[in-house]
Amino acid sequence: EDIYMGAEVLPRKNSHGLELTDPTAVEPLLAAMEKLRGRQFSGGPIVDGTVRRAEEPVYNPATGELVGHTANTDKHLIDAAYRSATEAQRDWDRLGGNERAKILDRIAELYERHIHELTSLICLEAGRTLNDGISEVREAVDFCRYYANGARQHFGGPQELPGPTGESNELVLGGRGVFVAISPWNFPLAIFTGQVVAGLAAGNAVLAKPAEQTPLIAARAIELMHEAGVPAKVLHLITGTGAAVGKPLIEDPRLAGVAFTGSTETARLINQQLAAKEGPITPLIAETGGQNVMIVDSTALPEQVVDDVIQSAFLSAGQRCSALRILCVQDVIADNLLEMLRGACEELTLGDPALLETDIGPVIDEKALGMLEAHRERMQKEAKPLFAFDSAKLPKKGTFFGPQMVEIEDFSLLKREVFGPFLHVVRFKASELEDVIRRINATGYGLTFGLHSRIEGRAGAVFKRVNVGNCYVNRDMVGAVVGVNPFGGQGLSGTGPKAGGPHYLFRFANEKTKTINT
Ligand code: NAD
Ligand code: ALA
Repeated sequence: EDIYMGAEVLPRKNSHGLELTDPTAVEPLLAAMEKLRGRQFSGGPIVDGTVRRAEEPVYNPATGELVGHTANTDKHLIDAAYRSATEAQRDWDRLGGNERAKILDRIAELYERHIHELTSLICLEAGRTLNDGISEVREAVDFCRYYANGARQHFGGPQELPGPTGESNELVLGGRGVFVAISPWNFPLAIFTGQVVAGLAAGNAVLAKPAEQTPLIAARAIELMHEAGVPAKVLHLITGTGAAVGKPLIEDPRLAGVAFTGSTETARLINQQLAAKEGPITPLIAETGGQNVMIVDSTALPEQVVDDVIQSAFLSAGQRCSALRILCVQDVIADNLLEMLRGACEELTLGDPALLETDIGPVIDEKALGMLEAHRERMQKEAKPLFAFDSAKLPKKGTFFGPQMVEIEDFSLLKREVFGPFLHVVRFKASELEDVIRRINATGYGLTFGLHSRIEGRAGAVFKRVNVGNCYVNRDMVGAVVGVNPFGGQGLSGTGPKAGGPHYLFRFANEKTKTINT
């Protein structure tokens, strides 16, 4: 009997968010944005519920304006957070999955109540568009409710197991201890929240470490989590750069597990640090980058492909781990499709992400912009240009990078993930499909994959052979929905289990069985 999959699935609905085509929904959002614009927020460490001093400036990537301050958490404060969390974790675990779930549901309610403020803050701090900001709040809410149900299902009490006559058997799931949750800037609310609430749902205390670029939204999220009833000693915010706070967080002997989302390089480094530690073996959940490919064969519907490529490669400024990086087009339709794509790219509006008409906001910071500019320079020498966004149409302030398209001969030109609106196109002949799949698998990454084809049986056949976590057919390949498209990859893209999927919480748990000879 499959005890995990056999558990009853509790009813749950994903969040509605806001509809940007509805003026009555948009007005309060724009009003909240106006109210928050020009204000400065605190994004310093929060230990035992106390917000600490913060003096490092945080800037809006679209305007360069100051939006708040943050700080590197010093090692004494990290030690204090560990001490407090270690003590408080036992009671939090004993509280049980049902009670913890109620608190997680309250976080979801608070997030929904504050959707205008949270969306605005995401936009002002991370440069994400209003649409992306709303999606993020929705995803964060969904994570809370999904893992709340997981806590009820699996952490609500012992599960009886079958056994021989005269013997009783039970499986009990509980928290491991203190989890460190390390998140990236590109989903500063959704991924941050997902990791934290998963850790909490399973009965752990959590030290949450947001990206140094986005501490303000993280600080607000922690305040709302505390307001919802998560004890201040159970959940702490550790702000700072990876270089400043990574070592004291990872090397602490009280660490029971790490949930990490970010680059493959950082995941590898953390994995090495964990492996070198004395004492218990510490689990690492790593969700990392991708070299994501879409295959378009001659039977695809070109208008739909264009919409899906724009959405997957260029919106969100290409700053999604799931984003399309390599488009493989069958040669017989390539010229026509590329012409249509060029036309669609010319129509894109880059600008202030707080404006409704903006399609694409800035990239996160000067460093990201520099890396994209260096890649463009390299591609000018090594690839054939297909499209370059008119630089005269870029905003004069802020870290904006216009969408680019180039044609390359082979995937091997791309050794690393290029994190921005940069699409690489490869043509293939009908007879080369197998080889394209071989080359996708040879990248070593395995996050998302797209296929546009109306050939019966092709989707099933390709799905079986391509080594990726999320496979999307005849649609875009971004925006995984909690509980609907559990998200996460394999190989260089991560360890799993998938976020927003039925197995995620188990990696945060200790499992114990009790066998009694009655
Ligand atoms: P990053 O690896 O530089 O940083 C991610 C987080 O790790 C940040 O909080 C950072 O401060 C921290 N960090 C950095 N060095 C550290 C160290 N030595 N010890 C501990 N923590 C450290 O990645 P990024 O640039 O912030 O994010 C973009 C990357 O994230 C891309 O590669 C993207 O593909 C990936 N990503 C993956 C997923 C997924 O679900 N697979 C989702 C979003 C982003
Ligand atoms: N979960 C995010 C997406 O699917 C990264 O785009």
